[in-house]
Amino acid sequence: MSNIVTVIAPVNIAVIKYWGKRDEKLILPLNDSVSATFDTSVMCAKTSVSTHPDFVEDQIWLNGKEESFSNPRLQNCLREIKSRAVAEKTITEDVLSWKVHVSSENNFPTAAGLASSAAGYACLVSALAKLYKIKSDVSSIARLGSGSACRSVYGGFVRWHAGSKPDGSDSIATQIADSNHWPEMRVLVLVVGNTQKKVSSTVGMKISSETSELLKHRIQHCVPQRTEEIIEAIKNKDFSKFAEITMKDSNQFHAICLDSYPPIVYMTDISHSIVDLIHKYNDLSGETKVAYTFDAGSNACLYLLKHDVPKVISLIKYAFPSTSPENFITGLSVAKEEI
Ligand code: DP6
Repeated sequence: MSNIVTVIAPVNIAVIKYWGKRDEKLILPLNDSVSATFDTSVMCAKTSVSTHPDFVEDQIWLNGKEESFSNPRLQNCLREIKSRAVAEKTITEDVLSWKVHVSSENNFPTAAGLASSAAGYACLVSALAKLYKIKSDVSSIARLGSGSACRSVYGGFVRWHAGSKPDGSDSIATQIADSNHWPEMRVLVLVVGNTQKKVSSTVGMKISSETSELLKHRIQHCVPQRTEEIIEAIKNKDFSKFAEITMKDSNQFHAICLDSYPPIVYMTDISHSIVDLIHKYNDLSGETKVAYTFDAGSNACLYLLKHDVPKVISLIKYAFPSTSPENFITGLSVAKEEI
């Protein structure tokens, strides 16, 4: 078998957010979510995995620094990969007993609400799946690392089905449309801060699930309809509908964070200024030309169409004169490749 495998995996940013779990261990969500996968040329994770009879222990390096391999999510992913390798009879018993070494890097801020765990785990699991020659669907293994990671396994627009089975076998990602479907779609990431977020997504969504009434309302009364509507908008390339749902869902997610007890605050004053600016720009344009969305952090992701990118970049530079080029990750198209 080949002893070293390197894989690149893209970031995905949700337009219908995943927030809350029905099973903490298997990482099963309370609601469906929808995302777009970015082009790997600008934002991606890169992971190399290797296995060798001389390795004494499983080891992992993240951005050059050794981290503990005892992380239960990491262990669950490796265990599942190995059990699939046994079921699919892809490797021999002795290779299975060899230890693995993992080295992973991101080319964007880690844990600043930029979906680093999504790309990281999608990459790790895809690399391990290649190393152990797994043929079956890997999105359900990536999900064991970080929920949102299962969506990074596919390019284009992706839906993660919450599913209802206790074993999670129906909680998988499927592609809504591939990257060629809406080639004019672009994403502009505005890096507002690259410091570690105070409350991780995992902890934040646990607090919200336990305390927020609004979260229950969203899951029952908002997400099912929104999911169908945004899928329709993606299929019809209806940008203004897509944008309106994206912004409303981001706002509702952050309202749930505030409705949690104790409240969780991810957006900063600058994030809110970006929201105001986009609404003013859309109003002045007479149509919805840009959508913002914020994950568990202060950084903004703007969805817009290709021909509006130069104008919107100028607008942001004008509104935030101190913005330097490294505050922008620009012009991303929705990913062409799949891992
Ligand atoms: C706000 O996938 O990071 O980005 O499953 O606990 O690892 P865990 O959480 P994670 O949560 C992502 C939350 C979000 C919304 C989204 O990506 O859908």
